Amino acid sequence: MAQITNVGILTSGGDAPGMNAAIRAVVRTALYHGLEAYGIRHGYQGMVNGDILKLETNDVSNIIQRGGTILKTSRSKEFMTAEGMKKAYDHLCRNKIDALVLIGGDGTFRGADEFFGKYAIPAIGIPGTIDKDLSGTDFTIGFDTAVNTAMEAIDKIRDTAEAHDRVFIIEVMGRDAGYIALNCGIAGGVEDILIPEEVTNIEDVLARIDHDERRKKNVHLIVVAEGDDFGGAKELYAVITERFPLLDVRTCILGHIQRGGSPTFADRVLASRLGHASINALLEGKTQLMAGIINNEIVFTPFSSVVKNAMSSDTDMKEIIRVLSY
Ligand code: F6P
Repeated sequence: MAQITNVGILTSGGDAPGMNAAIRAVVRTALYHGLEAYGIRHGYQGMVNGDILKLETNDVSNIIQRGGTILKTSRSKEFMTAEGMKKAYDHLCRNKIDALVLIGGDGTFRGADEFFGKYAIPAIGIPGTIDKDLSGTDFTIGFDTAVNTAMEAIDKIRDTAEAHDRVFIIEVMGRDAGYIALNCGIAGGVEDILIPEEVTNIEDVLARIDHDERRKKNVHLIVVAEGDDFGGAKELYAVITERFPLLDVRTCILGHIQRGGSPTFADRVLASRLGHASINALLEGKTQLMAGIINNEIVFTPFSSVVKNAMSSDTDMKEIIRVLSY
């Protein structure tokens, strides 16, 4: 067993539903093992500012079902400077924090790799991002909830699109990754999906609309990830309405709705498992690793190897769209 007494925990980067469930799991597991738990507010910026508070078991009561993060979050530029890191380290020392659990996405692990390479405090990471674009894990906390939110929105849009015989373009989150777009698109039974990992052939997109019009298919739904190379809903709308001036076309940008809301059971269970595993890992002396889940097993990946993960094999799901929307 490693000599650890005070564990700090923070959430960093874009919030994701299930982060609270992870905070609860980390705090409760730490307290169960006789450790003290400290929340660091506003992510790495809170480390720089010394925004640190002690957490007791009641502080994490009734949060498993809540979206957002009770610890708040940020994308801190100051932390990424040598001066910021030094300030952060001094605050950890002052508060006698001798281990850390970090919940966030690729920016969080890039920061962690640099900081913990310099300052030797044991640290374990937990993947939390709706984008699911991380290596070292099959799922990230928040992804399942975000996809379900987007899918429910598509179902609602389908009702009104069908009532008016409209083409609808639905823009979902995903600056660099199409996991949300691909999964909510398939689950929502849409006609087309455009993702950052593939070069969009706009003539193909237009040809599919034309094909559906000719065979009198009433509804044509297109899901586009915000980071698609052609552009988002606005750019697509311009091209589609120019080519088909008689078509009734509407757009809907789902935006941050996808980041909020009560986490699904899958995200709560994932968060609970990874939160629990993170403290056990620290107690076993593990450090500078992200706890992920691969084939339903907890696996640990060095911070230095956790990278933004572009979609690869999943692209065959686009073929499923072609066939099932035929
Ligand atoms: O990384 C999660 C994410 O929601 C992306 O999908 C999106 O591009 C980005 O964060 C939005 O960030 P912000 O909330 O800072 O606008």
